[in-house]
Amino acid sequence: MDKRFIRNFVIIAHIDHGKSTLADRFLELTGTVETRKMHAQYLDTMDIEQERGITIKMQPVRMQYVLDGDPYTLDLIDTPGHVDFTYEVSRSLAAVEGAVLLVDATKGIQAQTLANLRLAQKEGLVVVPAINKIDLPNADPEKVSEELTALLGIEASAISHISAKDGIGVKELLSRVIKEVPSPKTETQKVARIRALVFDSSYDTYKGALAYVRVVNGRVRRGDAISFFATGALCEVLEVGYFKPHMLVTEAIEEGEIGYIATGLKDVSKCRVGDTITNNAQLSISSSNRGPGENFQTHIEPLPGYAEPRPMVFASFYPTEGDDFDMLRDALSKLKLNDAAITFEPETSEALGRGFRCGFLGMLHLEIAKERLRREFDIDLVVTTPSVLYKVTCNDEKVLDIAAAGFLPDPALVKEIHEPWVELDIVTPLSFMGNIMELVKAFRAIYKETEYLSKDHLVLHYEAPLAEIITNFYDRLKSVSSGYASMNYNLSGYRQGDLIKLDILVAGESVEAFSHIAPRQSAENRGRRIVERLKELIPQQLFAVSLQAAIGGKVIARETISAMRKDVTGYLYGGDYTRKRKLLEKQKKGKKKMKAIGRVNIPSNVFLEMLKE
Ligand code: GTP
Repeated sequence: MDKRFIRNFVIIAHIDHGKSTLADRFLELTGTVETRKMHAQYLDTMDIEQERGITIKMQPVRMQYVLDGDPYTLDLIDTPGHVDFTYEVSRSLAAVEGAVLLVDATKGIQAQTLANLRLAQKEGLVVVPAINKIDLPNADPEKVSEELTALLGIEASAISHISAKDGIGVKELLSRVIKEVPSPKTETQKVARIRALVFDSSYDTYKGALAYVRVVNGRVRRGDAISFFATGALCEVLEVGYFKPHMLVTEAIEEGEIGYIATGLKDVSKCRVGDTITNNAQLSISSSNRGPGENFQTHIEPLPGYAEPRPMVFASFYPTEGDDFDMLRDALSKLKLNDAAITFEPETSEALGRGFRCGFLGMLHLEIAKERLRREFDIDLVVTTPSVLYKVTCNDEKVLDIAAAGFLPDPALVKEIHEPWVELDIVTPLSFMGNIMELVKAFRAIYKETEYLSKDHLVLHYEAPLAEIITNFYDRLKSVSSGYASMNYNLSGYRQGDLIKLDILVAGESVEAFSHIAPRQSAENRGRRIVERLKELIPQQLFAVSLQAAIGGKVIARETISAMRKDVTGYLYGGDYTRKRKLLEKQKKGKKKMKAIGRVNIPSNVFLEMLKE
């Protein structure tokens, strides 16, 4: 393929600013998807994405378009906008030359607009800015344009005004992409040799690990012997192709193109995101083709990869039914095939049985994994209180990584506890600044500085402990700003904290799933809140149930759920045994979704509700 007619680009934006809708219009305009098959957010292929209207996974798609008589091949990658999935965005950026930066005309620049723009600039991409949703009555494109010109240092005329919903300005925007985004660079390296960057992967039962690649040098064909630089895996290419957006087999994918390579590898960890695929030196270059003394491997440099995704939030997953443990292990392994950022390792708890300690990129990521396990694998879970990863220094100087309160050593043995901190950026209209400054005080955040995007729209820079902002901070931020403020955060390092273990006891038994590592200063309040909430959530039992929060054995808050006797068949007098049996069976089924903690049956949704506390 003539590289002059290839354009590789992404659409980046804050969540809900309209990426998937714009991608839909591009797909229609280029005739990539037939009109009768078109539906909203076409590239969001997972059920959860469609239902929630959010993009979780990046999705590449190839489009063909003729401009001024020239036939162009456009490889677009639609990216997620939520902070948890910044890692997906950063990977897709390394596979392209340009980015459409989409900003909602009613909201203006928001936290992920800035974060994703910085990532695109770092990759040296050409940025094509566009203001979306100009059809809305409360759109203020002039104001957003002012902000963007200041931020990007460009003229207002360089910003497209579009409505992805109504298709206004979309054709012109695509023409701009073709004119402004450069075609892939020609490498000077003499390459019959392959270099392809793996920017994503998935798994197919028949074709093994599928590497989603940007070919930087050479050409990959079926039957080629290839190897992975980092993992050292060797394989023969079973198939190559590109995304339409379904996978379409082709003869070869070559320099400058985005496509996939079916590797046949059964172990997906061998096909690692960020790795470089190259020829298998032993098989594909016969010695007669090599120069005298030429060592093949020393001539090829791997492409710059990606940092491994770092789990930020940990929680344990326990099956409600003890015997679902093996099912859960299989399900997690399968989930990981398409979501490499999940980590998990087996864990045993006295009260909850056998389960897994899992690591996630954030709370949305956790919630989605849990939801997928329920839908795709029919596994009902008990999920323990999410935690960050603490570094606990013991008196003997040993440092332990602890991600659950239940694993904290005896306080007498602990010298110091260090917790992760983040740089927290909050973008807000000026009118909510007071509310936000008040709010963050309760979250141990430290104010750093204010940056103005315009006279009444600003970025507040803070530092904060990660543990404070992963749970309900975002909801609170939205509520004190009527939905206008947004936030982004980056891990900045570890700092010592005055932290203690907060135990929660149900009917006298400590329930690890509810226990917390908490700052001493707010532990009492938190303990009180938790027992009050549990009182609302746990149904009455046949006996009175005490709920207690305790620190180091000292009870700091207590509630009691009064006893109740429930006879489900009581009102069925007479001898209709079938109805009676049916009711008892129904009740038994209902019980399945309960977890017995000591004598108390706790419905599994209570554990999920408590995640939000
Ligand atoms: P994530 O993938 O979750 O980050 O969202 P997104 O950026 O892909 O946004 P999406 O395309 O899902 O659009 C979000 C909402 O805005 C949807 O309800 C769209 O219908 C709506 N929307 C997108 N573009 C326009 C537009 O031009 N005008 C109007 N009125 N609504 C739009």
